[in-house]
Amino acid sequence: NSDSISYIDPMKLLGGDILDLTQNIKRLLSSKHPVLESISKYYFTSQGKHLRPLLVLLMSQATSLAPKQYQISPANYYEIIDTPLSSSPSSSSSFSELINESPKEIYQPSLSVQGTIILPTQRRLAEITEMIHTASLLHDDVIDTSETRRNQPSANASFGNKMTILAGDFLLARATIALARLRNPEIIELYATIITNLVEESEKVSTFDYYMEKSYMKTASLLANSCRGASILGGCTPEIIDIAYDYGRNLGLAFQLVDDMLDFTSSSDNFGKPVGADLKLGLATAPVLYAWEEFPELGPLIDRKFKNEGDVEMAHNLVFRSKGLEKTKLLAALLCKKAATSVLKLPKSDARSALIQLTDKVLIRNK
Ligand code: FPP
Ligand code: MG
Ligand code: MG
Repeated sequence: NSDSISYIDPMKLLGGDILDLTQNIKRLLSSKHPVLESISKYYFTSQGKHLRPLLVLLMSQATSLAPKQYQISPANYYEIIDTPLSSSPSSSSSFSELINESPKEIYQPSLSVQGTIILPTQRRLAEITEMIHTASLLHDDVIDTSETRRNQPSANASFGNKMTILAGDFLLARATIALARLRNPEIIELYATIITNLVEESEKVSTFDYYMEKSYMKTASLLANSCRGASILGGCTPEIIDIAYDYGRNLGLAFQLVDDMLDFTSSSDNFGKPVGADLKLGLATAPVLYAWEEFPELGPLIDRKFKNEGDVEMAHNLVFRSKGLEKTKLLAALLCKKAATSVLKLPKSDARSALIQLTDKVLIRNK
């Protein structure tokens, strides 16, 4: 069908909405504490994929043409999200000051040629989503004692564990202020669930079901629920909200499967972070779990988290001798297909096509 004929560049489609993202986030992170400010901004200085905000913005556009439960009037929305909280202490309110001096036109709703629209609240949601993701990366790199991220030294390698954890907390707190300013309790609950899931990421148990649940918790929940959030802010009907959620969930699971495959097949230069890390961390991801079906001798290694001399090498070799990587990719492809099928239920638009094309990108990415 016509959706796969011509490539739509999401960056072009979203224009200023995505270009301003990092700039706006940095505004939200301004602080009188210079160390917190610079570490919390650190991962925004390298070029991330911006997958999550991209999804939020595209989903906002794609659902804007769908049936509505409420008609949202975009006018005045920036006033709501940029008005200082009445409880902000005025002495230390660099955040409120900043918000007040910010040019209001930044948050005007944007209207595309096709009549799709991104509301100021949805744009802010994209920023909040990337902030929460980045907070989780700061904490994750401490937990995983990871030395690199996005081809740079990790935050923990550069600034130490303590300040990196605090900077993650700070990011999360600022994201929460911005979230509260959306004045929508349903969205606050949704995002609190996302954060809970990130932390709850289930215990390291080795069956495939647990692995998929953990992947939902650590990756897909954020994608699924932020797509859902975008459609809620757009006033969509429950049916449309479910479509947005299903798309994000399946794409998110596929994304994690591919990530776990690339941990075996990519190079650290390409990936921008350590490869071969999961076995060393004791983690049995999809490729290993599939290989275990063919090579039962992997069982004891998985149980002892590859901690004996030679375990990591042996598991690595068995994965490459098995169909584990191939099967991981096949499952990811199936989930991408599912994601594309749900989003096809939305009215036709360039944003919808871009969301479908994103499912291919997730599958063929090598970084
Ligand atoms: C990356 O997985 C893991 C996450 C993005 C989530 C980790 C969550 C926490 C550390 C809880 C803290 C959360 C907040 C919101 C502060 P990975 O290690 O497999 O990915 P990687 O290869 O990119 O490191
Ligand atoms: Mg990690
Ligand atoms: Mg981790």
